[in-house]
Parts: sequence; structure tokens; C-alpha cells
Amino acid sequence: MNADLVIVGSGFFGLTIAERAAKELNLKVAVLDRRHHIGGNAYSENEAQTGIEVHRYGAHLFHTSNEKVWEYVNRFTQFTNYQHKVYTSHGGEVYSMPINLGTINQFFRSAYGPAEARALIQEQAGELAGTDPKNLNDKGIQLIGRPLYEAFIKHYTGKQWQTDPKDLPAEIISRLPVRYNYDNRYFNDTHEGLPVDGYTAWIERMADHPNIEVVLNTDFFDEGEFSRSSVLGQVPVVYTGPVDKYFDYTEGDLSWRTIDLEEEVLPVEDFQGCAVMNYPDEDAPYTRIHEFRHFHPERDYTKDATVIMREFSRFAQKGDEPYYPVNTAEDRRKLLAYRDLAKAEPSVLFGGRLGTYKYLDMHMAIGSALSMFENKIKPHFSGGSKLE
Ligand code: FDA
Repeated sequence: MNADLVIVGSGFFGLTIAERAAKELNLKVAVLDRRHHIGGNAYSENEAQTGIEVHRYGAHLFHTSNEKVWEYVNRFTQFTNYQHKVYTSHGGEVYSMPINLGTINQFFRSAYGPAEARALIQEQAGELAGTDPKNLNDKGIQLIGRPLYEAFIKHYTGKQWQTDPKDLPAEIISRLPVRYNYDNRYFNDTHEGLPVDGYTAWIERMADHPNIEVVLNTDFFDEGEFSRSSVLGQVPVVYTGPVDKYFDYTEGDLSWRTIDLEEEVLPVEDFQGCAVMNYPDEDAPYTRIHEFRHFHPERDYTKDATVIMREFSRFAQKGDEPYYPVNTAEDRRKLLAYRDLAKAEPSVLFGGRLGTYKYLDMHMAIGSALSMFENKIKPHFSGGSKLE
């Protein structure tokens, strides 16, 4: 093995560490991934028939207010001026999301100003005032009132969790955004956009360094040159796979939700007129439909066909892709035990979405990797400090 540092996982977390270690410290870095491609869940490719860029593991929208991260990512790609907007199809009508004054006025067939709308929602939310919400259903009603909650949140959340919200803990939601103006931009960050020539071009530029060796189709836990048994104790490791798997599930399995994505090419130029349509009603089995051509209106895509992806949400079983931490009280207890084990593991740093059991947006994964590089990896390789 000819590497100073082994990184398990080529998502944004692993690639940021690899790029920094190779470029700034001139280290030889091996990046392993068990998949056939780099980029982790942000990987995209052009759909074969239409050439339309499809985000393979669900839609990825880049946004950040972190200037350090924005400066860093701009070294590898330019961004379009795409601004994300989401619509929702309820009861045969389409509304804009997150709930804003436009949604409220359309829903109540009214022309309220901000103060009147605020007063109405406060009054409706007062239905369960002073009571302790026993479940997610009560919490939703307390936050935005029964009519809006039941229309836009109740069944959507039920489908996401495959569970009636009356049987879900209240703590799953702490707030439900309601805007008392007509702003329907989904994100409020300072910077937002999509990589001009796609996620894969961006990701490949991060890995394009003579000191970086990318090793695909290789699982850290299988036998081989870069396996756990060959590498541990030889060189430092940054591990971005699932933390429970690393410790052979000794403290129990952490629970995750996953999504099934059903892709379809349709012989029409435009299927739904927007990038994302939510389906918050009980009768649609999916939660939302993405139409990928709308992420890049600046591109000269074919007018003969379009690509859509229906999203179905469910609890992950062993072998499924873990996407969103469920994070029950039991999960948190197990996580604390895994964190103790991780701290005691010599010369292995745990990071990223799977390694920390935390949902991270791309900018958060990159920001957290830049911090790990500055605070742990750089001091270790330049000053010989212990890696912990
Ligand atoms: P990531 O999961 O990307 O990479 C981990 C890599 O490790 C994977 O490639 C995996 O194959 C590899 N690996 C695991 N175990 C291994 C082993 N034993 N051996 C070898 N390799 C192993 N963010 C955002 O900013 N905007 C958005 O719109 C979205 N949308 C979105 C949708 C969905 C459905 C999900 C699940 C996530 C998002 N994200 C997002 C989050 C984004 O995907 C996230 O920030 C990055 O995945 C985090 O990067 P990581 O490198 O931590 O993990």
C-alpha cells in the first residue's frame, strides 16, 4: 500500500479531506468507495435516452451562507443562478410551498394581509393551546392550526414515516415554517445554485490530483489491499461509512429512513412545469415528483422527452441505502455508545453523514471536513500531534 492517508467513502466529506491533504500537505491519499463511482449521494449522470442530468440518489440543491465553504467549492465549479421553488398538489389544486401568504390566501379563498393571516393562524393554532402535545399530530395543530396542518403536513409526514402522525413522537418537528409574505424561495441562504456542468464534473475536479488514488468497487470491510485489517495501525484512516457497521453493530443498529426512486422517461417536453411537486394527500403513494430538466433551464435539452422521478419513503432495512437518521431516543443512546468507541479507536477519524449519524447538507459536510482537516489532520501531519 502506497498511501499516507486512507479515506473510506468518496462523498463530499471524504473528497474534501482528500483534496486538502493532497494539495496542501502533499500527502499520498487513497480514497475507497464500495460503489462504482465517486461523489457519494451527490453523484449525477446524464440519462441515456434524453441526455438530461439526473441526480441518482435524489435531488441535490446546493445552498450555503458559509463564505469559507462558498469560496472553497468555487475552486472546482461555477454555479448557475437556479433558485429552488417547490409546489404542492392538494385536493386538485396546486399551491406554493413553504406555506406563505399566497398559499394561505388560496387555501382560505381570501385576500388577507400579513397581520390578518397571522391572527387567523394563531387563532387556529390555539385549538390545543396550553396542552402538552402527545404526538406529532397535536404538535402540528399547535404550530399552524388544524386546516393547514391536515392539508399540507399530516399525510405527507405520515407517508414519509409510514406511520400515522398520531403514533409519531411530537419531537420529530420543532417548527413548521409559515411566511407571512409572498416569498416562496425554498432556501434563504446567501448563495444558491447548481454546478454549471453538473455534479460529476465538480466531484471529478476535486479528485483530480496526482497524489489521489481513487479505488472504486471496494468495501473497506472486505479483504484486500485497502481493507480494515490491512490498513488499521499502518496509516491514519478517515471513515465516512456507517458508524454502527464499523463496530459490527455491537451497540445495536442505528435506524434510518430510505427512499425508493422510480424513474420514468415521458414523451413530452414538460410534464409538470416545475422541478418539484409535492403530493401531500393520502391517495398518492409517493411523496413528491422531481422533473430534472427544470434544474437547468439554461441547457438546450431535447424537447421530445423529459425525465421524472417519483419518490417513495420508507424505513431502511439492512442492505438498503441509509438516507435520513430516524433518531429515536434509543438511537441517541446507541449513538453515544458508538461515539465513545469511536473516540477510543486509534488513528481513525469518523466523519460525514454516515460516520456521525447526522443529516448533513452538502455545504455542512464540506464545512465539517474543512474543520477536520484544519483541526486534526493538518496538526497531525505537520506537527506530529496524536490523531484523535
Ligand atoms: P455520502 O453518503 O455522500 O458518501 C459516503 C460514501 O461512503 C458513499 O459513497 C458510500 O458508498 C461510501 N461508503 C460507505 N461505507 C463504505 C465502505 N464500507 N467501504 C467503502 N465505501 C463506503 N444536500 C444538500 O445540500 N442539498 C440537497 O438537496 C440534498 N439532497 C439530498 C437528498 C437525499 C435523498 C439525501 C440522502 C441527501 C441529500 N443531501 C442534500 C445531502 C448530501 O447528499 C450529503 O451532504 C452528502 O451525502 C454528505 O456527504 P458524505 O460524504 O458525508 O456522505
